[in-house]
Amino acid sequence: MTDTHLAIIVLAAGEGTRMKSATPKVLHPIAGVPLVGHVLATARELNAAHVVAVVRHERDAVASAISELLPETLIVDQDDLPGTGRAVELGVDALPADFEGDVVVVSGDVPLLDAGTVTALIEAHRAAAASATVLSAILDDATGYGRVVRSVDGGLDRIVEQKDATADELAITEINSGTYVFSVRALRTVLPRIGTDNAQNEKYLTDAVSLLRGAGDNVAAVPVSEPWIVAGINDRVQLADAALRLNQLIVRGWQRAGVTVQDPASTWIDLTAKLAPDVEILPGTQIKGATVVERGAKIGPDTTLLDCEIGENAVVKRTDGTLAVIGAGASVGPFAYLRPGTYLDADGKIGTFVETKNSHIGAGSKVPHLSYIGDTTVGEGSNVGAGTITANYDGVNKHKTVVGSHVRTGSHNVFVAPVRIGDGAYTGAGTVVRKDVPAGALAINVAPQRNMTGWVEANRPGTAAAQAAAAASDATAS
Ligand code: UD1
Ligand code: CA
Repeated sequence: MTDTHLAIIVLAAGEGTRMKSATPKVLHPIAGVPLVGHVLATARELNAAHVVAVVRHERDAVASAISELLPETLIVDQDDLPGTGRAVELGVDALPADFEGDVVVVSGDVPLLDAGTVTALIEAHRAAAASATVLSAILDDATGYGRVVRSVDGGLDRIVEQKDATADELAITEINSGTYVFSVRALRTVLPRIGTDNAQNEKYLTDAVSLLRGAGDNVAAVPVSEPWIVAGINDRVQLADAALRLNQLIVRGWQRAGVTVQDPASTWIDLTAKLAPDVEILPGTQIKGATVVERGAKIGPDTTLLDCEIGENAVVKRTDGTLAVIGAGASVGPFAYLRPGTYLDADGKIGTFVETKNSHIGAGSKVPHLSYIGDTTVGEGSNVGAGTITANYDGVNKHKTVVGSHVRTGSHNVFVAPVRIGDGAYTGAGTVVRKDVPAGALAINVAPQRNMTGWVEANRPGTAAAQAAAAASDATAS
């Protein structure tokens, strides 16, 4: 149910310079979802009446990603005045004038922050009737963070930024995580009063704490249960650390849901993938995007699947697949390359060193060895011979190949599209199928073989081949 007294402001206007990237920081993915997407997912779970995202750097890219991830988000542009305080001020201004209640402020670069942690913070804030409640963390190394300065009675006094801190303050290990709950009334009073007289000439949101306390308001800092929950991503090392942590959580979640994961350390599963009980995942496997794997399927080793559907009890070994649908009991690989639009029906096979694209291979049909099959449909119970290539591209257009049901094609064929091979037809080894093959026919177009007897002895006398040939004919003679 929507909490009509709750709004969330996601800060995503910063540059993220330490990523050294052309991609805006908050759009770097972990577990297949951009950083800001993780934060928006948490925001959605909180059922707030309003979600506001403040953007500026790479505005269009960030805004459109946010709108796609959580369409109800209100996008607010930050102006030339820098700082988290200014960002929140503009966010609050964008809320309806009659909005009363609490505002959660989160950074777009804190992907592991979960809704449960924020809910607990909101509850503490409301129970204490506080104006500001800061989620803090105790860190071994607090470098870079704002420090939580407490007064002698242990209450929150103020937050000092690393760049403004004294040596004594720098020794403090309790840090500001950058996640807060404020009463909107307090924010409306205090934000316009925050100045930029500090080491960074920015409007610090953190200054709200001392100003509110000075006005006699109740402010508090509540330490998070485990510091990794509030880890912010500033560079690629932290990005990889967070990705690893999240992957461990995801893999464990699936293990507890009945999935066998032989080697969690080399198994990467996106947040968006879905696995059924009794799926088995072998080492070196990545399950990405909207991939769905049904019960009993065995994936890997060394397999990457993006947006694929894998049916019950299918086996997919050493395969790279994108947008492919594999039927129940089917078998793929080792060393298969499934490109978009591959459909393999139940009990079919796409075997070793086979590439498929935009092709539908019917139930029980097999493409077992060394083939390229593109823009093709194959009926049921057919076998496409080893080394078959569909010549689907004439240099300008792509053309279709249609293979019927219960067809047997010979090894090393080329199907020159557009072409059709009828139900129950056969083709000989080495056939270049340029014309349609009627149902039940045998198509052969290789030139008849001529054996020029004695050619080696006559033309290559004295070679090992000639000697072997002579020995063979002696043996036949005797
Ligand atoms: C901020 C806090 C610091 C805290 C740390 C936690 C302030 C002044 N400091 O520092 O106490 O320990 O987060 O990670 O708030 N942003 C905007 N507009 C701006 C500036 C920043 O939207 O003008 C956004 C950024 O995109 C980011 C978040 O605010 O998502 C935090 O900004 P960042 O520059 O990373 O703040 P820190 O210096 O890390
Ligand atoms: Ca930061």
